[in-house]
Amino acid sequence: MIYKRKFPNTRLRRLRSSSNIRDLVREHNVTANDLIQPLFIKEGLKGTEAIEQMPGIFRYGLDSVIKEVEEIASLGIKSIALFPVIDPDKKDPEGSEAVNNNNFICNAIKEIKSAVPEILIISDVALDPYTTHGHDGIMIDDNIDNDLTLDQLVKQSIALAESGADIIAPSDMMDGRIKAIRKALENNNFKNTILLSYAAKYNSKFYGPFRNAVGSSSNLGKSSKAEYQMDVANVDEALHEVALDLNEGADIVMVKPGMPYLDIISKVKDTFNVPTFAYQVSGEYSMLKSAIHNKWLESSVITESLMCFKRAGADAVLTYAAKEIIKELN
Ligand code: PBG
Repeated sequence: MIYKRKFPNTRLRRLRSSSNIRDLVREHNVTANDLIQPLFIKEGLKGTEAIEQMPGIFRYGLDSVIKEVEEIASLGIKSIALFPVIDPDKKDPEGSEAVNNNNFICNAIKEIKSAVPEILIISDVALDPYTTHGHDGIMIDDNIDNDLTLDQLVKQSIALAESGADIIAPSDMMDGRIKAIRKALENNNFKNTILLSYAAKYNSKFYGPFRNAVGSSSNLGKSSKAEYQMDVANVDEALHEVALDLNEGADIVMVKPGMPYLDIISKVKDTFNVPTFAYQVSGEYSMLKSAIHNKWLESSVITESLMCFKRAGADAVLTYAAKEIIKELN
């Protein structure tokens, strides 16, 4: 039908002619309901530490993070994703500290939950903050052992759920982890713990600033995560990953990185019609911020980028700029 329309009966500029009409016909919006704020918290730190490659983003000590979470919640943001920076002395090749139910992240979750009970806490499941080699799993003869890692991830997930994490987010890319974690959650009576699967997580260099921020890049060295994270060149494989994770019990699936992967978000949403999140990762944030800092781009490009995520089909986006965007929108 649409192809029969002709100028001047149809002038697409009519519906662009004032801001009121543009507002009425707009298809997508970005609100506080769409944004999740990732936060770095550092064991043993008092106060805050700036992260050089991520201007405006800090590592928080347990003493300073509560105030930050209160501010985030007061802006109407519904959820935070916590990333711990662990004392290097507690790291080992198996990531043992990850399964200690009295570790730094478990205590942080309890404290934040008791201070700001309404905020939904997303907690990552992967061993990289805890391993001396910086990989997401247990290393045997230079190989990340899938099935040994599963046992560790299950224990880590239960510890996080016991501490009060609302959403468990496996970011490790081991095969079968959603199934194993879901089964353990059911068996331990965590029937309402939400599983947010980093289903299509690519082996991306856009994670660089994050790895520096959590102190895993120096441990990782030149070693890559290509044996478990997805090949940047693949599309079908992303749909395969999502299908498996949904069958295994994921409630929400995620695509990561974000901006250069909008095609994947769009395909996942169109194919499965399930809640689909995206992660605008550290490198994307650094890229935008450094250009804005140099006055090569206007600061509104950040909100523009979030609108593009919504247009592609993302239901919510993890973005370091969440707080800043909401302040700007208000
Ligand atoms: C760890 C993890 C990573 C990110 C989130 N969880 C890094 C990685 O896989 O090496 C990256 C987030 C970002 O770059 O902002 N499993």
